[in-house]
Amino acid sequence: MRLDDAEARVAEHLRRHEDKQLLRFITCGSVDDGKSTLIGRLLHDTRQLRDDQLRALEADSRRHGTQNGALDFALLVDGLAAEREQGITIDVAYRFFDTARRKFIVADCPGHAQYTRNMATGASTADLAVVLVDARKGLLTQTRRHSYIVSLLGIRHVVLAVNKMDLVGHDPAVFARIEEAYHALAAQLGIARVDAVPLSALHGDNVTARSQALPWYAGPSLLELLESAPPARAGEAERLPFRMPVQWVCRPDQDFRGFAGTIAGGRVAPGDAVVVLPSGRRTQVARIVTADGDLDAAEAGQAVVLTLADEVDASRGDVIAAAAAPPEIADQFAAHLLWMGEERLLPGRPYLLKLGTRTVGATVTEIKHKIDVDTQEPLAAKTLELNEVAVCNLHLDQPLAFAPYAEDRTLGGFILIDRHSNATLAAGTLDFALRRAGNLHWQPLDVDKAARARIKQQAPRCLWFTGLSGAGKSTIANLVERRLLALGRHTYLLDGDNVRHGLNKDLGFTPEDRVENIRRVAEVARLMTDAGLIVLVSFISPFRAEREMARRLFAPGEFLEVFVDVPLAVAEQRDAKGLYAKARRGELRNFTGIDSPYEPPEQPELHLHAAEADAEALAAQVVAALGLD
Ligand code: ADX
Repeated sequence: MRLDDAEARVAEHLRRHEDKQLLRFITCGSVDDGKSTLIGRLLHDTRQLRDDQLRALEADSRRHGTQNGALDFALLVDGLAAEREQGITIDVAYRFFDTARRKFIVADCPGHAQYTRNMATGASTADLAVVLVDARKGLLTQTRRHSYIVSLLGIRHVVLAVNKMDLVGHDPAVFARIEEAYHALAAQLGIARVDAVPLSALHGDNVTARSQALPWYAGPSLLELLESAPPARAGEAERLPFRMPVQWVCRPDQDFRGFAGTIAGGRVAPGDAVVVLPSGRRTQVARIVTADGDLDAAEAGQAVVLTLADEVDASRGDVIAAAAAPPEIADQFAAHLLWMGEERLLPGRPYLLKLGTRTVGATVTEIKHKIDVDTQEPLAAKTLELNEVAVCNLHLDQPLAFAPYAEDRTLGGFILIDRHSNATLAAGTLDFALRRAGNLHWQPLDVDKAARARIKQQAPRCLWFTGLSGAGKSTIANLVERRLLALGRHTYLLDGDNVRHGLNKDLGFTPEDRVENIRRVAEVARLMTDAGLIVLVSFISPFRAEREMARRLFAPGEFLEVFVDVPLAVAEQRDAKGLYAKARRGELRNFTGIDSPYEPPEQPELHLHAAEADAEALAAQVVAALGLD
């Protein structure tokens, strides 16, 4: 998973320009644990600071510092003034430092409310995690959460930094207790290796050098641990069979067609047999082109342009892979999700999923269970809130090439994106494919929609009425249907209240249930247009995302969104069913317009100002918009 390209660029730069081995690590902990002080101390004691930075730090420490004029390393790391005022660090900062033995990229992730986003970003490429614990407090809920996410994203090595040992009198028993508790947690989480080190970031004890203050500790300092840690992920991608997601097709002229991308796994050489996925076309690699000339071979991490022996079509988002061991193709998955949206996850809602270079439509079809990250217990859930983790089933609207995350981070890690705001809503890991795609086939039928429509002498349509309860949707839809019938058209009216008596009688009015309500009726409307009918749907359908999902089920021009628009005050005054009054009295929860939102259409085909005209006139307007001959 690459949530952040900046980090990838730094790594690429280092790979090219130096031979020293690189270790990437992530730091987990909060400001209170002394994380900023620890990183500042590491940078300072490994002499990464320029003179001007050091002078600025001295001046800042005098002005803002909490250390009585001594250097306050937290100021160095919490760089931005705004962050300092809030007392938190925001987003992931990648810092580079090196020693004689090794170079490092540290992803510094803050521990506040948005921690899953930041940690998922930082952890997805890290070799190990430094988990910081305040010696006075021991393991906290936060320690458990961070460790859970670290393990979920595949980190198997934790350095447990027990900080502020000076504040517990350098007591070995305190350290031993925390170390033991963490070993138990690590065993639960499948973290294979834990190295614990007692230290004081403030005083620099056991950070870069071993300290006399903790004579009972015979192990290495934090820096020594980092210098000697095996880079767990080095070689991981190289060991995979060859695979490269196509980033773009490079076509400078008629004679040249190359496929550009970063190799996600394995090695490739001219002459190698490859397959293009998901199409399954086979061919061989002809050339490996780079800015510095052709290569005899290339491997994971390198950005290259491949040309193929045959005229094979491949486009952005496809994967070119070793023909002998291609990744699987699927459109249904079991996956872990870390929800990071401000709005909660709604199963059935259409999102975008980005995996490698491919973006496809996706819905969470089922939350199997969420996971209490403090105890690892499974919990029943219908929705997910910010920072929650769950095991889910995912359905994509197109098959794609993937690998389980445990095997391949690039083809197994994904993000979910909001279709409107483009915000990242979740990070996830694909666990395995659900075999449904392979077992369910589309049954070809001889009589098709066109034939059914022809015999009815009409073009099928879906008229989708949306608006507040009491706006007049059903009244107008009913009149429209009568007029159509009089014109000899074949119609059907699906009305919210009525459908909720049958097909949707198991659904209430929570956001999750409304999503499912609309998904079902949209599918029914699609079947009815497939039958050749003009279908009228009259549902509040308060959410834009679901109305758009409905629209996507239909052929272009077939779906007409009719916004029955009245001010809330007018609908409330009419209150034919007395529901607004009930909602105001607090006897009815989640009532649209009162304590549940209505998102008006942005570009409806028809916008009816329904408070200002009578229903017959509005119905005539709708029929006219159908453009019947
Ligand atoms: S939708 O939001 O899921 O599209 P739908 O159109 O099916 O709603 O049902 C709306 C009808 O249910 C309203 O016309 C009203 O009669 C009734 N109703 C009962 N409770 C609510 C509620 N909390 N919010 C809105 N409508 C409700």
